[in-house]
Amino acid sequence: MLLYIIEAVIPVLTFQLVWAGKLAWRQEKERHKKVAAIHAASLWGSYLLVWILIMFGQTLQGNAPRWIVDTHLVIIYIIPALLIFMMATGLRGARKAHMALAGVYVLLWGAALVTGAMIFLAHRGYI
Ligand code: HEM
Repeated sequence: MLLYIIEAVIPVLTFQLVWAGKLAWRQEKERHKKVAAIHAASLWGSYLLVWILIMFGQTLQGNAPRWIVDTHLVIIYIIPALLIFMMATGLRGARKAHMALAGVYVLLWGAALVTGAMIFLAHRGYI
C-alpha cells in the first residue's frame, strides 16, 4: 500500500517541480509562484499521508544496502524543511537566497530520486 502511494506520488511531484523550475527560468513569476505552491502543498500532504500510514503499521521491508537507505532518509527529512525556506524567500522577494536554495533543492531532489530508485529496484529484486 505504502509503496503504491509513493510510486504514484513521486512522478507527480517531480513533474510539478520541473514545471515550476521551467516557469521560473522563463521569468513567469506569477505562474511559477502558483505551481511551486501547489508542489509544496502536495509534497507536505503526501508526507503527512505516508506518516499516517507508517503510524498505522505500514512498512516497506526493503533489502537495499543500509548506506543507501540512510542517505535517502537524511535527504527526505531535509526536503520539506527546505521548502518552507523556499516559500519564505520566494514570497519575500529575496531573489538571491531563493535561487541559491533552488539549486540545493533541485540537487537534493535528484539525489532523493536516485537513491529512491535504488531502494525500489532492490525491493523488486532487480539489483
Ligand atoms: C515553495 C514554494 C515557492 C514559492 C512560493 C516561490 C515563489 C517565487 C517568487 C514569488 C519568485 C519571484 C521572486 C522575485 O524575483 O521577486 C520566485 C523566483 C524564483 N523561484 Fe521560486 N518559489 C517557490 C519554490 C521554488 C522552487 C522549488 C524552485 C526550484 C525549481 C524555485 C525557483 C525559482 C527561481 C530560479 C526564481 C528566480 C526567477 C528569476 O527571477 O529569474 N522556486 N519564486
